[in-house]
Amino acid sequence: MSSVPVITIDGPSASGKGTISQIVADRFAWHFLDSGSLYRLCGLAAYKQGVDLDDEAALVSMIATLNIEFALPEALGQATKICLDGQFVEQQLRNERMATAASRVAALAGVRQALLTLQRNFRQLPGLVADGRDMGTTVFPDATLKIFLLASSEERARRRYKQLKEKGMDVNLSAILNELEARDRRDRERVAAPLRAAEDAEIIDTTAMGIDSVVEKVLACWESGR
Ligand code: CDP
Repeated sequence: MSSVPVITIDGPSASGKGTISQIVADRFAWHFLDSGSLYRLCGLAAYKQGVDLDDEAALVSMIATLNIEFALPEALGQATKICLDGQFVEQQLRNERMATAASRVAALAGVRQALLTLQRNFRQLPGLVADGRDMGTTVFPDATLKIFLLASSEERARRRYKQLKEKGMDVNLSAILNELEARDRRDRERVAAPLRAAEDAEIIDTTAMGIDSVVEKVLACWESGR
């Protein structure tokens, strides 16, 4: 068992995991793992290399040869920049096509297993905040604090719409809602590490909460567990 503290923040798409995790990591000056970006990266690499998104064996061999680098952010509050084969791919990872590709490859047990060590290597002093679907159940089952964020699908679609609009993307709210509900279903129903709260997770329904109050709630959970 590792002595490095970990806070896991899991939940469905656009429940606020990424934003909250990054703020908490900055407050503590801890490392931050956006595990979804690794699944998105697999989807992107598969598209680039012409690998079928259902071909588990080919995806597993592809992952073994991927040249991934994480560039640390220049300032607090900025995301870690991800490079694939020496190129920054952050912008390409964030579109909904890559979100769907990520959710398809993420359903394959071999892909999840191939990414496990990479994710666990993020656990370094002084601590880690890990954001995903199975951080508390599978990747860091001994985490110090486990949070599971919820929000209604309508509210999550609205948040995702705003986020993509701000990035200058051409998006449609009802298409986002449909895509998000389809992805939730696939993430919940898969056999390999399905989306669910760990038994010892604190569940926070963020539907009517602003970012600041969710952060305060997470920090209060951390304080009360110490
Ligand atoms: O930002 P959003 O929550 O929409 O997506 P993400 O966290 O980047 O994850 C994209 C997809 O990767 C999800 O729909 C999941 O299928 C998959 N994923 C996963 O299976 N396990 C994780 N720990 C993180 C993401």
